[in-house]
Amino acid sequence: MSSFVVKGGNRLEGEIDVQGAKNDVLPILAATILNGGKNVIHNCPDLRDVNITIEVLKNLGCSVTKQGRILFVDSSDINGYTIPDTLMRQMRSSIIFLGAIISKFKKAVVSMPGGCEIGNRPIDLHLKALKQLGVKISESHGYINCEVDKLEGGNIHLDFPSVGATENIMLAACMAEGITTVTNAAREPEIVDLECFLNRMGAKISGSGSDVIKIEGVKRLYGVEHTIIPDRIAAATYLSCAAITGGQLILRHVNSGHMDAMTAVLKEMGCKIYDERNRIIISSPKGKLKNVKRIVTMPYPGFPTDIQSPFMSLSSISDGTSVFVENIFENRFQHVEELVRMGADIKVDGRIAVVQGVNKLSSARVVAKDLRGGAALIVAALSAEGVTTVENAKYIDRGYECIERYLSMCGVNIKREE
Ligand code: EPZ
Repeated sequence: MSSFVVKGGNRLEGEIDVQGAKNDVLPILAATILNGGKNVIHNCPDLRDVNITIEVLKNLGCSVTKQGRILFVDSSDINGYTIPDTLMRQMRSSIIFLGAIISKFKKAVVSMPGGCEIGNRPIDLHLKALKQLGVKISESHGYINCEVDKLEGGNIHLDFPSVGATENIMLAACMAEGITTVTNAAREPEIVDLECFLNRMGAKISGSGSDVIKIEGVKRLYGVEHTIIPDRIAAATYLSCAAITGGQLILRHVNSGHMDAMTAVLKEMGCKIYDERNRIIISSPKGKLKNVKRIVTMPYPGFPTDIQSPFMSLSSISDGTSVFVENIFENRFQHVEELVRMGADIKVDGRIAVVQGVNKLSSARVVAKDLRGGAALIVAALSAEGVTTVENAKYIDRGYECIERYLSMCGVNIKREE
């Protein structure tokens, strides 16, 4: 079980090329099975979740080869419509394949994804939407069995703007009969890029980025070339690393337009942020960060739940009290007890965490319990006095491409220990 060992106190200074977005590449890889052709995906991040998704594609009969950050996916010999328990348990977001497999084979058998570290992660919205497209769904022995004679478009209203459910509807409906309209759709940039990818394949989708998406079914789709968008959450995590150390950082290959809610909070904390076309430059205050009274997670374009924990690390040494409200997931404060071990003053009550800034954090042996909570512990360790060990590096590797290399290149004392 590998860990990160961080000696705190160094100012982060340097430049980082931001990785491709994990939450963009996963649905796009699922979409490649729709076109039964050759696809070339550029700027693919080297992450555990991407490797598991590649295993799912191979398990379905696709051929996948990698050259650096370029993935070649050939789905012409796809022959399977089942995702086994072993793969679903490794990564529950494999549920994103459901819509695409049903569209391709008119049937699908996937293991129940189950919950994960941050919540029980229901898929009722996905299944309700697929039923509205005519899919018959039964659940038995821990598997979801789906069948449909012909997918027929319709009007689907999402009770909650679920990212995954929106994506599954787009994938299932793009070759359905007729028109599908999704209202209360998720508006994340990754949804917009999925529309761009599908339309390049020959789909007819419009409206993504707004809460109403229209999908006009087409007969056939074709293999394409595409570049994954920058990872806005990884980018904001690195900005947090600069902010907590009073450092300076140039982030290249970002889309600052996807990061307004996060950079606004950093500015409120006293950081200077300059954004140019595809670069962001942060210059952090040498003294204490100002506290931000309330941080409330919301669907995009609101403050993203995925950056809540790294920003809580920042607030734990800011000069006042901050109230965090986590509206998206019911168990996304697992990093709190670990931050408290490092000297943070945080009280949790349900979905609310009250953070009283302290003067300094101190090093400790802490345990990552989920991807973004683990990232928050690394952010905290950068400013803590002494040597902090963050266990369970595997969680962090799910979403951050060789984080220790990027941070070391910017003057941070961080090593991976097997
Ligand atoms: C995506 O998860 C992201 N994952 C998450 O990133 C992100 O936090 C989340 O969207 C919100 O932005 C990927 O894209 C692979 P949701 P997803 O469906 O699609 C409830 C990370 O750290 N819900 O928008 O699973 C659900 O329980 C990960 O990179 C239902 O109730 O998120 C949650 O409370 C974590 N029923 C809320 O909606 C459903 O059928 C938001 O979930 C589906 C969701």
